[in-house]
Amino acid sequence: MAADKHSSWSYTEGLPDEDDILLRARDRSHELGVAPVTPAVGAALTVLAAASKASTAVEVGAGAGVSGVCLLRGLGRNAVLTTIDSDVDHLRAAREAYSEAGIPSNRTRTISGRAADVLPRLTDAAYDLVFIDADKPGLPVYVEQATRLLKDGGIMIINDALDQDRVAEPAVREQSTNTLRQVGKMIRENEALVSALVPTGTGLLLAVKQRA
Ligand SMILES: C[S@@+](CC[C@H](N)C(=O)[O-])C[C@H]1O[C@@H](n2cnc3c(N)ncnc32)[C@H](O)[C@@H]1O
Repeated sequence: MAADKHSSWSYTEGLPDEDDILLRARDRSHELGVAPVTPAVGAALTVLAAASKASTAVEVGAGAGVSGVCLLRGLGRNAVLTTIDSDVDHLRAAREAYSEAGIPSNRTRTISGRAADVLPRLTDAAYDLVFIDADKPGLPVYVEQATRLLKDGGIMIINDALDQDRVAEPAVREQSTNTLRQVGKMIRENEALVSALVPTGTGLLLAVKQRA
């Protein structure tokens, strides 16, 4: 019998057994009209955060806190997540999710503002992990800023890197799809980065800044 990629994808997405804290954060996301990371992406974020042994992380696009809780659960007990969102209601919901998850308030720094204004104010080479899940037009700037913010050995993670599965379709010329193609190329051609595109969720682009 031929293997079915879609069945494998559905199986993978159905595996994480999310607790009430994540399920409530998902409900709040939907109420606010925010698309949270898929369950398999959430699980991958926890693993990547744990594997990176990051002590400092930045998230662009807090939403209602689903991805933040997943990251914080993988990060070490003393690690701090700086998360940025331009919508104050989303940030309020994200704070509620962190609090319900029992995350001490000194482990999160929530910054309200447009990422293009906030990221340039963060310190060079001070972060072990940067997760990007916000507006598509801003992506080239966020990737440039993330590359500056990462320490050597740090990891950048971009969600929805396949733009709802449109990137692989050459006939699709939507602006967001072209931006994702451009950003993928920019990362692959950057000799300071090693990268991989993983088809979990709607694509996770992983890039590690190599030690000089
Ligand atoms: C897809 S949602 C993030 C979902 C979240 N990562 C999660 O999994 O729970 C995108 C978020 O980016 C925020 N956003 C959109 N444009 C932004 C910008 N220019 N700067 C900062 N945040 C922005 C939106 O308010 C929204 O909360």
